[in-house]
Parts: sequence; structure tokens; C-alpha cells
Amino acid sequence: MQIFEEEFEDIESEHLFIKKHAENVKKAKELINDISNGKGVEASQMDNVVDSVLDRLEERRDIVSCLNQIRTVDEYLYSHSINVSLISMLIGKWMKLGEDKVRLLVQAGLLHDIGKTKTPYEILNKPGKLTKEEFEEMKKHTIYGYRILEQSSSVDKDVLAAVLMHHEKEDGSGYPTGLTSEKINLLTKIVSVADIFDAMTSNRVYKEKESPFEVFKYMEEDSLGKLSPIVVNVLLSNLANYYIGDRVSLSSGEIAEIVYVNPRCVSKPIIKIGDRYIDMLVEKDVKIKEIIA
Ligand SMILES: [Fe+2]
Ligand SMILES: [Fe+2]
Repeated sequence: MQIFEEEFEDIESEHLFIKKHAENVKKAKELINDISNGKGVEASQMDNVVDSVLDRLEERRDIVSCLNQIRTVDEYLYSHSINVSLISMLIGKWMKLGEDKVRLLVQAGLLHDIGKTKTPYEILNKPGKLTKEEFEEMKKHTIYGYRILEQSSSVDKDVLAAVLMHHEKEDGSGYPTGLTSEKINLLTKIVSVADIFDAMTSNRVYKEKESPFEVFKYMEEDSLGKLSPIVVNVLLSNLANYYIGDRVSLSSGEIAEIVYVNPRCVSKPIIKIGDRYIDMLVEKDVKIKEIIA
């Protein structure tokens, strides 16, 4: 009986969370609309969004479990901005940054892709691969974003830096300038990791979403030289544990439960199928396709 009551409470708080999250998405949408219509950023308006997002701090587990559901019901750019904001906020908290820095992270996440409101729609939502020229145009969203916000005195310089530099890479292979690690500030590095995580776990017109464990694998194996290893480590070591107990479908079609996440290799957890335990570090052919619940 106890179990049922707890489950019921869980469901109720999840519904409440989804409702509040939808409100946050709406507020962020208004904010982004206003900005892109040339109204400029009003500090009080942005604080509303920031406060409502920061309120959710206690519900970190819900945030993680709801991200996937939320993004399917709203337009990509808006929910992406909210998601990047939430993930950046979580990383900031996990890194024990002060409240001021965390608020800047929330703002930077919300605003990082504001320049995409100036990117032609056909490029932004093109189903296929972008041509070289189209990609060059797409890259400009970093500069557009910076220009939109630099006139607004209420936007902190660290937020401006994140808007301009969130596609820079540790090894200098990013854009718009090709800056290397030491020139990129910590808040920008956090937003970059959150941005990649959300983009990879989303369905887009040109690609299917990937399971978080595939994204963890990318971050462990292929992000070296691209993303900050410190920030990646904070995200992986904290976020992975939220998936313990979740049910997943495997590429074999079987259903399994995640029972243990190895902190040194979070992309390959120990899973349980029926009575059978499988260590994905040992059985390399097993792949997690999707989280079910
Ligand atoms: Fe971007
Ligand atoms: Fe983004």
C-alpha cells in the first residue's frame, strides 16, 4: 500500500512539474519573441523566467525525467532554450558555483541561441544536410545573438560571452573565432556541454534522437578536445545516477532495467533482464536504444 501511495505522489508531482515546465516554456517563448521583435530584454521579465526555473531546483530528478516528454510538445528552439538553461543550471549547482553564477547560467542557457531567430527558416529546419554556404549562414547565429543582446544593459558580459562563444571548441576547431580552451570562460563551457547534450537527445527534422547512454558514450570517447573534460565529467558523474531504476529497451528488442552505473564508464551500466544481470562493459554488443520510464 505504501508503495502505491508513493507512486501516486510521484505521478502527481510529475504532472505539476510538466504544467509548471509548460508555463516556463511559455514565458521563455514570450521573452525570446520580444527580443527577436527588437523590444530588447527587460530585466524584470528575464528575472521572472529565471526565478521560475530556479524554483525547480528541488525537483532535479523530475527535470531529468521530463526533458524528453516536454520537448515533443513544443517548438524546438523554445524548449531547447529551456532545456539548455535547466541543464546548465544543474551543472552549475553540481560544480557548487555561487547563486549569482547559477542565475547567469540560467540566463545564458535561455538566450544562447537567440541569434537563430535571424537565421532563415529554410536553413534552420532543413531536413537534409546543410550546404557549405548554408552552414556558414547558420554559424552566424552566434554573432547575431551577440549583436541583439549587446545593446541591452541588463545582460551580463558572461552571458554575452556564452551567446557568442558557445560553439567554440577546446582545440580551437569551433566558431565563430576558433578560440582555444584558455580563452573560453567556464560559463560558456557549461552551456556548450548542455547544448550538445540537449541537441543529441532531441528528435530533429534531420535526425532521430539518441538515447542518453549513446550521448554519454560520445562524451566519454569522442568529445576530447571539443568539450571541457571537467564539465563533461561533472555532467556524466551526476546525471547518470538519475537513470538507475529506469526501464530501457535494447537494440535486441528486449526490455531491461538499469541497476548500477559505473562512475568510470557511465555509458555502460549494469542492466537486468528478468533474472539475468548484464555488465555492458563486458558484453559490448548490448546497446540501449531508448529509455521507457
Ligand atoms: Fe547555438
Ligand atoms: Fe543550442
